[in-house]
Formats: sequence, structure tokens, C-alpha cells
Amino acid sequence: MIELKNVDKIYGKGDGAVHALKDVSVTIEDGKFTAILGKSGSGKSTLMNIIGALDSPTNGTVFANGKNLTELSPNALAEYRNKTTGFVFQSFYLEPTFSVLDNVAMPLIIAGVSRKEREERAVKVLKKLGLEDKIHKKANELSGGQKQRVSIARALVHNPEIVLADEPTGNLDSQNGAEVMALLRQICNMGKSVVLVTHNMEDAKNADNIIDIKDGVATMRKSARAAEGAAR
Ligand SMILES: Nc1ncnc2c1ncn2[C@@H]1O[C@H](COP(=O)(O)OP(=O)(O)OP(=O)(O)O)[C@@H](O)[C@H]1O
Ligand SMILES: [Mg+2]
Repeated sequence: MIELKNVDKIYGKGDGAVHALKDVSVTIEDGKFTAILGKSGSGKSTLMNIIGALDSPTNGTVFANGKNLTELSPNALAEYRNKTTGFVFQSFYLEPTFSVLDNVAMPLIIAGVSRKEREERAVKVLKKLGLEDKIHKKANELSGGQKQRVSIARALVHNPEIVLADEPTGNLDSQNGAEVMALLRQICNMGKSVVLVTHNMEDAKNADNIIDIKDGVATMRKSARAAEGAAR
């Protein structure tokens, strides 16, 4: 479980300072699908980056399974992040001339895993996501939807506890977008926590919990989907 307590994020100083998060206290429940929903500039990516330990708050505290992340050294924080989190972004960030296999195996180089094991694990996750026939293609030979599925495979290959996706359907047509959303739900059903950043109410309906954010102020609620599940 990840808990943010009274988190502020202020970019810059003095007159030009931007107060991107204002006294945010939210919880990311283990094994649940959480959507961060808000308009452009509301602070979604800032919030996601703090939840995923890509960035630190200006004020306030972040606990991960009871551990205070704001007290960790930069090295310890990086180690926590590399082990625990997987990220997916709107623009994929694949290495265009590398094979699908090498792109997916890349996080395991940082983790110090041998080449043989890297390839085995990458193949396994690619099979799970139905991408086995693309293993030896170059990333730049794929469609947008395929690229995003490969980047999701890459986010999963080191077996993180939490997968964070910032507008993952932003560059996709509606059918590929729906497939990516279904895949995120499937990842949640595998027992992982999923955090989705979106400005799209329809996408947020896939979530269990919704964090609404407006001008840096965040509030949490259960989704209609979660409420229906509870009523059943
Ligand atoms: N590195 C930065 N330096 C200064 N200001 C920043 C920085 N990153 C974000 N901001 C500002 O903080 C506010 C929140 O930005 P953020 O990127 O979190 O919004 P967002 O909801 O993700 O928007 P979008 O939907 O457009 O991606 C905005 O006013 C933005 O201009
Ligand atoms: Mg953003």
C-alpha cells in the first residue's frame, strides 16, 4: 500500500513558483486499479511521479508498505523504484532499432540479470501478452497499439508490485486504446496495483478507485464499478 500524507509539490521559487499539488492525502491500495482523473495541468503526472517514486514531494510524506520514502537516500529510493515499479508512458519510449525482445529485456540489465535469464523472462512476459510472434521484430516496425503492449511488457518484466501508466492510450485509436485498458485490468487481476493517469472519464470507469484532481487538489472515491462489485 502506498500512502501520501499532506503532500505538496511546488515547482520553482518566488513569483514563478507553481503549486502543482496542494495538501494531497491519498492511498493506493494493493492489487487495486486506481485512476487519477483530471484536466490538463491539474497535476496528474506530478502525482503519479510521486506515487511511483520518480519524484519527491516538496512537503509531506510518502509511505510504501509502511516505509517512509521521503527519508530514503537518492540511491535507496532508486533501488526501491527499480524493484517495485514499472512505468508506461503515452509515447512508449521504446528503442526504435532494437528488437521487441531486447526492448522488453532492458530493465533486467539494470537489475544485473544474466543474458540468458533476461531473454527467458522477456519471452515469458511477451507470450503472456500475446506478442510472441513479434519477438524478433524491431520496435519501429510495430503499430502504435503493438508498441504500447510491448512497453507494458517491459514494465512487467522485472515483476514489479505496481504498474503506473501516464495517459497510455493518448496516442492510440479507440480500439487499440480499449485493448490497452483491458490489458491494464488483466494486470490488476494478476495481483498487481495499477495506477492510470487519464483525462478521460470513460477510461477511469475501468478503475476500482478514482482520485479526482483539480488545480492540485485531490479527492478519492470508489468507482461505480467497485460499488457494483460490493453490492453483488
Ligand atoms: N518540471 C516542472 N517545472 C515547472 N512546472 C511544472 C513542471 N512539471 C509540471 N509543472 C506544472 O505543474 C502543473 C501540473 O503539471 P502536470 O504535468 O502534473 O499536469 P497534468 O495533469 O499531468 O497535465 P497534462 O494532462 O497536460 O499532462 C502545471 O501547471 C505544470 O505547468
Ligand atoms: Mg501529464
